Amino acid sequence: MKIVSIKDYLKRTTEEKWALGHFNFSEDDAIRAIVESAAEFKTPVFLGTSEGERKHLGVKQSVNLVKAFREEFDVPIFLNADHTKSFEGVKEAVDAGYDAILADFSALSFEENIKLTKQSVEYAKSKNPDIIVEGELGYIRGESKLQREIIEVKPEDLTKPEEAAQFVKETGIDMLAPAVGNIHGIVVSSKESVDISRIATIKKAVGDNVYLVLHGASGLSETDLKNSINAGISVIHINTEIRMAFTEALKETIEKEPQETTPYKILAPSIEAMKKVIEKKLKIFSSINKI
Ligand code: G3H
Ligand code: ZN
Repeated sequence: MKIVSIKDYLKRTTEEKWALGHFNFSEDDAIRAIVESAAEFKTPVFLGTSEGERKHLGVKQSVNLVKAFREEFDVPIFLNADHTKSFEGVKEAVDAGYDAILADFSALSFEENIKLTKQSVEYAKSKNPDIIVEGELGYIRGESKLQREIIEVKPEDLTKPEEAAQFVKETGIDMLAPAVGNIHGIVVSSKESVDISRIATIKKAVGDNVYLVLHGASGLSETDLKNSINAGISVIHINTEIRMAFTEALKETIEKEPQETTPYKILAPSIEAMKKVIEKKLKIFSSINKI
C-alpha cells in the first residue's frame, strides 16, 4: 500500500466532497468490524477511543492492536484519541503513538480552551510532526447512548464563526469540531438535525487548511450528512449506532442460543451487525474506493 498521510486524505475530502469516517471502539471486535469494512470498501478511516473506551482496552493495547490490524489488512487506518479532556491525557496518547488527538477543552472558557489546546498542539507536534490535532469549540451536548431525556440545543451552545477563526489562528490546530446543532447519542424524543449554513460559514472562517469534524452523527439523516459534507465537513464521527448494533445482536444471540458459552461464537453476529452500520455510513460519506 502506498503511504498517504492523513493530511493528504483531508485535503482530498474538501476538493472531492467526501468525508473520512471516524468510528469508535472499546474492544477488538469493533476494531475488526471497522478494519474489515475499510479493507473491503477501500476506504481510509479513523478509529477512535474516548477516554472511557481507551481506559477499558488500554492505551498501549489500542495503539498496538490498531498497528497489527493495519499491517495485516494493509489499509490506511488512523488512531484518534477522541475527546481527551486533560493535558496529561493528551501527553499519554501522543507518547503511546496515537496518529491524531482531539484536545477537548470545550468545557472551559474561550481563553482557557485556547491556552490548553495550543499547549496540546505544541506538545504533540514536538513529539510527532505528522500528528493531527483537533480542537473543539462550542458545546456539543449528550453522550454516546440512546438519549431518553429531552436534549435542547441552546443558541449559546453553537460555535460562532468569528470565534472559530480566532481559535484556529491562535491554537494552530489541524481540525476543528464545531457545535452546529449536533448531539452525542441518539435522541428518542426529537429529530436530530444540523445547521448546514453555520457549517459553511465556519468553514469559510477557518480556511482551507483547517478541516471540520462533525461529532455526534448517529441519528442524523442521510440528507443532513450529505449536506454537511457539501458545506465543508471532512470527518464524521459515529459511535452510538455501532454500540447499539453490537449490543442488540449480542442480546439476540444470547436469547436464541442460551446454552452457547464460546465467546467468539456469541460475538460473531455482533461483528456482522457493526459492519452493516459502518458499511452503510461509508457509502453515505462517499469514501469508498479512495485508497
Ligand atoms: O466522538 C464521538 C462521536 O461524536 C460519536 O457521536 O455517539 O452520536 O455517534 P454519536
Ligand atoms: Zn464526539
